Amino acid sequence: ADTTVYDYFNRPLRDLRISVTDKCNFRCTYCMPAEIFGPDYPFLTNKELLSFDELERLAKIFVAHLGVKKIRITGGEPLMRPKLAEFIEKVKNIEGVEDIAMTTNGSLLPKYAKELKAAGLKRVSISLDSLNDEIFGKINGRGVSVQTVLDGIDAASEAGLQVKINMVVKRGMNDSEVLPMAKFFREKGHILRFIEFMDVGNTNEWQLDDVYPKKQIIEDINEVMPLEAIDPNYTGEVASRYRYVGTNDEIGVISSVSDAFCSTCNRARLSASGMLYTCLFASKGHDIRSPLRTDLTDEQLTKLLGDIWSGRTDRYSEERSEASTSRKKIEMSHIGG
Ligand code: GTP
Ligand code: 5AD
Ligand code: SF4
Ligand code: SF4
Repeated sequence: ADTTVYDYFNRPLRDLRISVTDKCNFRCTYCMPAEIFGPDYPFLTNKELLSFDELERLAKIFVAHLGVKKIRITGGEPLMRPKLAEFIEKVKNIEGVEDIAMTTNGSLLPKYAKELKAAGLKRVSISLDSLNDEIFGKINGRGVSVQTVLDGIDAASEAGLQVKINMVVKRGMNDSEVLPMAKFFREKGHILRFIEFMDVGNTNEWQLDDVYPKKQIIEDINEVMPLEAIDPNYTGEVASRYRYVGTNDEIGVISSVSDAFCSTCNRARLSASGMLYTCLFASKGHDIRSPLRTDLTDEQLTKLLGDIWSGRTDRYSEERSEASTSRKKIEMSHIGG
């Protein structure tokens, strides 16, 4: 039977993004600036985190009763969570899951790629914002080298995981890297997606002028390597796709600011502490951990989760304004993008 739930704007729930930790070994300036996420930052304690068993129970309910087909593991940096492969294995065994992906900074993939693949992970999106060590070291806030991430990318490919690369583009920070990155990953055979710098969270001092828009990104590349737009792979795909004319090599652009895509947004996000968010820019989540830790039945949980989705009216990127930009929002590191 079709168990799909629709929100207020008739958007189905399909994609559940599960954050497994709020910790990260990087301090990217646009996500977890080191001045704020310092040694005394109160990260979640183990008790506050949902356990793998709790996450598995929720994931099962989402898939069996609420129409979810795709699960993406995020963080913080998901590989900071000990024994993550054990959780992937649990997710793989849930009947009805069509796709299991992970968003990662890549640094720990040389260590874990093989066991993740063996556990059932299909795909990884690896973040890399520059090929220049000086620029990248500054962005990641920890002086991590480009080679560290490239090693992670290679480890993932060699383990048989499908790989995409995510690059956040911010004017004056790394817009000069758009073309070099495009050339490099075209050559390497990985799909590169450019992400417009977004006003997520409360700490990255976002300004509209910082956004290097989709149109500009495409122009920069098109001048040297001509591009043509291609159709989405599936409804609700976040990236708009382009290919190099006359080839099957493609790139994507995620233009949350200059060309919003809320009308097809089918994503729910669960934070590591068990709060459910129906938008990346939500100011408020729904506590799932407390009911989960009382003796609610699966049926009662299904009702609770379904009601949250049915009542959803979020379309932040389509409504973005000065007032909304400065209101309080969930931190990116709590829901992993
Ligand atoms: P595929 O499954 O390969 O299509 O990947 P994806 O684009 O769904 O996942 P990924 O985590 O790689 O998304 C890349 C980035 O796009 C995220 O890290 C976010 O920065 C941004 N993004 C994803 N979903 C949304 C969304 O619903 N709204 C906004 N504004 N940005 C999003
Ligand atoms: N704007 C755009 N993308 C961001 N990410 C983190 N913070 C931001 C932001 N402010 C990206 C990361 C990674 C994914 C999890 O989200 O670089 O690719
Ligand atoms: Fe860590 Fe990713 Fe945030 Fe960078 S963007 S600080 S790698 S969670
Ligand atoms: Fe979905 Fe919110 Fe992003 Fe719009 S801004 S696409 S509603 S997560």
